[in-house]
Order: sequence, then structure tokens, then C-alpha cells
Amino acid sequence: MANGNRNKLRHLITLTVLTFIFCGVCFAKSEKSPPTATKVLMHRKLVQTQILLQSLMIGNEGNLVKSLQELKTISSATSWYKFNNDVFLRYSSNFRESIDRMIKHQKEGNYEGVSMGYIQLTLTCMNCHQVVRNK
Ligand code: HEC
Repeated sequence: MANGNRNKLRHLITLTVLTFIFCGVCFAKSEKSPPTATKVLMHRKLVQTQILLQSLMIGNEGNLVKSLQELKTISSATSWYKFNNDVFLRYSSNFRESIDRMIKHQKEGNYEGVSMGYIQLTLTCMNCHQVVRNK
């Protein structure tokens, strides 16, 4: 076999071995850390916020109401609280208040209010996450 080909083969083998090791590490990691309650709740938050936006865009009243209710339930859970400081607690209550306002607007048929509420809600996600990341 020519030298160049042998080198290529060696590279290929190294790459394959490394890929296996990498996958092994990933699998081992994912097995060791099952999703925590916080992760499950936050994932639901993310999904429901997406459904909320979609419902607002296409005017799907049923899904709008359902996603607001689901977000309301999630917002009353406290198991995901990470910090007991003022800023964190303020964002948590901002989150709850945004949801309550949106529910009120939805009941009154004020969709502009619901849309504004959506923007406030996502700002709260971002503000709180900034706090979480910087700790
Ligand atoms: C008051 C604070 C707060 C608010 C508001 C908040 N989050 Fe979170 N979020 C957290 C904390 C704490 C975690 C867990 C981070 C950790 O432990 O590393 C988290 C984690 C997440 C994760 C990652 C979950 C995972 O799999 O690791 C997602 C996605 C997420 N949040 C989405 C959202 C969305 C969408 C919103 C708004 C609708 C939102 N969050 C609002 C505090 C908040």
C-alpha cells in the first residue's frame, strides 16, 4: 500500500475510534443525568410558549386558551426555583403576572393585549435566564 493511502487509512481509523469514544461519553452522560423536574418544567414552558405564539399568529382560540392554562400551572410551581434572591423572585412573579394579564386579555377578547403580553413574557424568560447564567 502506498504511504499516502496508509496515512489516510490511519486517519480514518483514528476518526472512527474517536467518534466511538465521543458517543460513549455522551451516552454515559445522558444515562447518568435523567431530566430533573426543573428541566421538564422548563421544557414544557418552552413548548407552551411556542404553541402560544403559533396560536396567536393563526388565531387558534382553543390552543391559545390551553397554552395559557398550561403556562399558568407551570408558573405556580416553585420546584424549579434556583435562587432565593430578590431578582430571581421578582422575575418569577413577573412571569406569573404576565400570564395572568394574558388570560384576562384573552377573556376580554383583547388580542392586542395578549400579543403585548407575549412580548413581556419572553422578555421575562430572557431576563431571568441572564440572572441564572451569570450566577
Ligand atoms: C424566574 C426565572 C426563570 C424564568 C422567568 C424562566 N426560566 Fe427557564 N430556567 C430557569 C432556571 C433556574 C433553569 C434551570 C437552569 C439550570 O439549573 O441550569 C431554566 C432552564 C430553562 C431551559 C433549559 C431546560 C433544560 O433542558 O436544561 C429552558 C429551555 C427554559 N428554561 C425555557 C424558558 C422559557 C421559554 C421561559 C419563558 C416562557 C423561561 N424559561 C422562563 C429560570 C427561569
